[in-house]
Amino acid sequence: MEKETIIRKTEQYVKARLEHDASGHDWSHIERVRRLGCWLAKQEGADLFIVEMAALLHDIADEKMAGSETNGMQAVQRWLWQLPLPTEESEHIVSAISTVSYKGGHGSPPQTLEAMVVQDADRLDALGAIGIARAFMYAGNRGHLLYDPALAVRETMTKEEYRHGRSTAIHHFYEKLLKLKDLLNTESAKKLAVDRHQFIEQFLRQFHREWNEASVD
Ligand code: ADP
Ligand code: NI
Repeated sequence: MEKETIIRKTEQYVKARLEHDASGHDWSHIERVRRLGCWLAKQEGADLFIVEMAALLHDIADEKMAGSETNGMQAVQRWLWQLPLPTEESEHIVSAISTVSYKGGHGSPPQTLEAMVVQDADRLDALGAIGIARAFMYAGNRGHLLYDPALAVRETMTKEEYRHGRSTAIHHFYEKLLKLKDLLNTESAKKLAVDRHQFIEQFLRQFHREWNEASVD
């Protein structure tokens, strides 16, 4: 089977599973991570096939989507095993996917250039205008508040607290999104992040300005 056919089949599989997601992990997110990942791969000299496959499959493995990390990784492995791929390629893809997620700072570091590229592409999609939009989709989907100034921003948290502790959409910017620019792996991604990070800062300034105006009577 041609590599191109493998990509197309994987695309169909992922699309069918994530099409109706309303928590910011929908098919359009996968397409952006894939496109950005392929672009970064070219800039950084990473293996394009591994990056494209890992980008396509990365949210199938997400514990938020699959119920648990184990379920998610198993689904990815089952999919890869029935494809005519050399074991080392499947393993490379699985390993890249397993290090994508942030997990409140508790993820394991990427082991290969391809893993770094996919992680950077996923993180860039959490920044900028799209990143802002996704954070509110996610918070709405989970029933979180827009904002609560009385709630402290958590500086450190366990993986469990990151996933299930009390937080708000705006808190997520301080607890994760503003940190991302310094956590990127590749130079090409760091350059792209500059604008997106600044846009988030500008958004937050305006948000707090309006919030405080609204509370003046
Ligand atoms: P993680 O690496 O934390 O698992 P994902 O990449 O799966 O994150 O997150 C998907 C999107 O949902 C990202 O844009 C992320 O910022 C957003 N998101 C994750 N957790 C929250 C949260 N508690 N509140 C708002 N947005 C969130
Ligand atoms: Ni993702």
